[in-house]
Amino acid sequence: MGISRHKSDQYTEVATGLTTGAKLLAQYASLWQHNAFLQALAEGALPEAAASHDLAPMIAWQQHYEPRETPYAQADYPFWVARDTPGRKWAQVCSLAAPCVEETPSEALLPWIDWCGGKGHLGRLLRYRPSPDAAPVITLDTQCTLCQAGAKRSAKDRSPGAPPHFFVCGSVFQPPFAEQNCRWIALHACGDLHRHLVHAASQSTTVQTLVLAPCCYHRQQAAVFTPLSETGQRALSETGMTWDREVLRLAQQDSTTASQGEIKRREETLLWRLSYASGQGLPYKPLPSLPASVKSFAAFVDWAATRHSTPVPDSNTAAHWLAEGEKCRARMQALDSQRHRFRRPLEIWLLLDMVQCLIEAGFMVEYWQFCQATNSPRNLALYARRAAVS
Ligand SMILES: C[S@@+](CC[C@H](N)C(=O)[O-])C[C@H]1O[C@@H](n2cnc3c(N)ncnc32)[C@H](O)[C@@H]1O
Repeated sequence: MGISRHKSDQYTEVATGLTTGAKLLAQYASLWQHNAFLQALAEGALPEAAASHDLAPMIAWQQHYEPRETPYAQADYPFWVARDTPGRKWAQVCSLAAPCVEETPSEALLPWIDWCGGKGHLGRLLRYRPSPDAAPVITLDTQCTLCQAGAKRSAKDRSPGAPPHFFVCGSVFQPPFAEQNCRWIALHACGDLHRHLVHAASQSTTVQTLVLAPCCYHRQQAAVFTPLSETGQRALSETGMTWDREVLRLAQQDSTTASQGEIKRREETLLWRLSYASGQGLPYKPLPSLPASVKSFAAFVDWAATRHSTPVPDSNTAAHWLAEGEKCRARMQALDSQRHRFRRPLEIWLLLDMVQCLIEAGFMVEYWQFCQATNSPRNLALYARRAAVS
């Protein structure tokens, strides 16, 4: 979608997207809003098959609101700025900063705050924007070791006349500096972090620009998701749906950048979990994250039985559990491939909600795909600029 540049059209366009999107997600909820792991264990209780539904309206909605691939021209940076930034990360930070070339000279002088900026790869690049008006950058992160490493790296390539790059070890929730007119940017800010940034920007009078690529939508404290925009709140509540963390987790269940080793381990441990759980019977008793030292089903069974304080079964029983687990896995794969059709629509809906929250607060907002999914599956970003007073 190429979002309109006119403020009232933007409002209507995105509001329509949120309302129709929520209705469609509710209409197909039986196909995606369930826990595939638990469903696969409950033999015979498979939810409806997608084949019995006409998915065309959902597909049309997705195609309409799917943002365009990056429409912004990439700037050239001195070659040495990219040094020490991993290749995929470099492509991401260049693309995320790209829309800012449209800024006016007075906007371009405002300091950047790079929230949850890790080692400051993005901050370092912003400092060397090919513009005579490059502005100072503050990179903030809760991990002081990352800030220290970033500051050391950034100090190496200070060139005469370049604006300063500060690192601050602190939290997005308690920003350790006074607000002044500034621009905010955040690459892959998880759950509550990106939600907080959007909300804080919408309440602020000093944030002039917000550039944001969200990720890990399910990482939120609250058990239930509340949309950020008034339109989103209304749209969701009209459907009667409640979205918990499990729903939000679906928005990011893809593994386009996982290594073969990571995929193999994930599949193997899923089979072990399903096998053990089917052997234990319902109700399902959860297990925590699996230590990397557990490398076989026998070791898994030992570990799980210890956690649950239950007897360890003999090897014949364990082999039988594994065979049952294979059947559960096949059921879970069928359920998951159905659920995954709704992954991107859900992710787009969550982005539209943030876009609309900022539009409601008076920003002009665009959103786009800032990188290929093969670079990062979390490839949606928004660019919000305070609309000029007319
Ligand atoms: C997914 S990483 C993204 C890092 C960086 N923007 C990048 O793309 O390379 C998320 C970062 O958020 C930081 N973080 C977590 N909680 C935070 C908080 N409350 N305030 C600031 N940073 C936080 C983490 O330490 C981590 O570096």
